[in-house]
Amino acid sequence: MDACLSSEQQPRPLEEAPSPPDDETLHTDGTSRCPGDSNEIEASLRSLQKFVPTNYASYTQENYRFVGKKIVIQESIESYGAVVWPGAIALCQYLEEHTEELNLRGAKILEIGAGPGLVSIVASILGAQVMATDLPDVLGNLQYNLLKNTLNCTTYLPEVKELVWGEGLEQSFPKSTLYYDYVLASDVVYHHYFLDKLLATMVYLCQPGTVLLWANKFRFSTDYEFLDKFKQVFDTTLLAESQESSIKLFKGILKWD
Ligand SMILES: C[S@@+](CC[C@H](N)C(=O)[O-])C[C@H]1O[C@@H](n2cnc3c(N)ncnc32)[C@H](O)[C@@H]1O
Repeated sequence: MDACLSSEQQPRPLEEAPSPPDDETLHTDGTSRCPGDSNEIEASLRSLQKFVPTNYASYTQENYRFVGKKIVIQESIESYGAVVWPGAIALCQYLEEHTEELNLRGAKILEIGAGPGLVSIVASILGAQVMATDLPDVLGNLQYNLLKNTLNCTTYLPEVKELVWGEGLEQSFPKSTLYYDYVLASDVVYHHYFLDKLLATMVYLCQPGTVLLWANKFRFSTDYEFLDKFKQVFDTTLLAESQESSIKLFKGILKWD
């Protein structure tokens, strides 16, 4: 068992921050402790308390394996943002297979629509400094999963922040301080009313040098319409594709002219 925390732990109500786990439940795979991380842990636990508690009626614990590690995700079918979608699996596979080429160690990453957090967890395990974002009501479960799978076993503890597409971006993510090496997105395009705001957010978050990695299962004609608009503003490369499952993974670099 090499998840960071024991999977025997029961899902915990999210009204309160989880206590730091006992030492013996950590590092069962022999990974080393992060240097000087106790302050980070304290900060992260404090930040957890400000999120709206996620009170789904039922949860399941789903197991994934990336980078040789078992990752345990608390999921609920009661919210789109509380289950791992196929685009997330595709993006995680790509990240683990191209870690060196992508230079992920120490890279600054922001994930939009992070849901239950699998992509952010894998990026953190691969050494990146991750900010996972989503709608307010899924942040409690997202934070729980991130802590459960990264506490004391990643160089940088991933952060969680609210980011509603197209809303208050300048206040929450001021351009003056904004720089990410990668913006990650998986299965953020489906039948919802915020596609224009989503695209505007993708554009907003990209600076010169930022690479956007977007994985999506293509289901609807509106998904392809979004792709057309995406290509108008991003230089777009298809990095991977499964025709069988209709999952595509794109790299986008914002056009600056
Ligand atoms: C289909 S789920 C994908 C979750 C995760 N990325 C994955 O692939 O497993 C879409 C995600 O986008 C988020 N989302 C939907 N509308 C949003 C909005 N207007 N602003 C921010 N996030 C939004 C949802 O909360 C959810 O987490």
